[in-house]
Amino acid sequence: MEIILCGGGTELARAAADVIKSQLDKKPDSVIGFATGSTPLGMYKRLAELYKNGEIDFSRAVSFNLDEYYPIKSSDSRSYHKFMYDNLFRHININHSNIHIPDGETDDPERECAEYERKIEAAGEIDIQILGLGRNGHIGFNEPAPELYAKTHLTELSHDTIEANSRFFENESCVPRHALTMGMASILRAKRILLLASGAGKREAISSLLSPYVTTQSPVTMLKLRRGVTLVCDNKAYPGEYKNDGGDKRL
Ligand code: GLP
Repeated sequence: MEIILCGGGTELARAAADVIKSQLDKKPDSVIGFATGSTPLGMYKRLAELYKNGEIDFSRAVSFNLDEYYPIKSSDSRSYHKFMYDNLFRHININHSNIHIPDGETDDPERECAEYERKIEAAGEIDIQILGLGRNGHIGFNEPAPELYAKTHLTELSHDTIEANSRFFENESCVPRHALTMGMASILRAKRILLLASGAGKREAISSLLSPYVTTQSPVTMLKLRRGVTLVCDNKAYPGEYKNDGGDKRL
């Protein structure tokens, strides 16, 4: 695993955006897996800036988002549809017919999930999957459990996640209890993975990632089963010693 250790949010955003830029420079029709949450926000802002400066081109890119609450209307201000359009898609030149986000309005979640998997396969699989992580080690909405789903599925959110995400809703009871999420295999099949972590709240999850173990009780640890993972992490989330020598550090 490549680890890019950053002193703060701006560095993290730039380092992460550079990874996406080099992916698109290499393969302009890349299939990109996007994530939501506050961690990737700086990177999305930086990508929009790069686009404005004419330094990045999304015109041939295809996107698949990791997850969406269920049920939720795509027009709902808390939906991940709205999040992605507001924070990224409206600010770059991605072709809107190339955007895929699980449909939180479907009346047939099982069919929607099967269809989503089929579309990822038909697109030739994901070239680079961006991931944030839950403080409990979840990726997408794959919550700690004795068994994890392989493919895109309807899942129940853990109490920890409901509590963590209640900051986006009026109160905890308004957070949807379910979500549609890519499964572990859908994520692990990506050709490359870019994991972002910032803040002390993620330190425990990062410790489990850096431990010698793999466990379904911390789904992020399953990233150790493969190569091609880059962790971009700030000093607060990093459990080891961090020396600020003025630049990002490649461990
Ligand atoms: C949600 C998303 C995850 C994301 C997580 C972290 O639970 N489903 O994909 O990684 O939030 O969010 P934040 O970056 O705000 O801590």
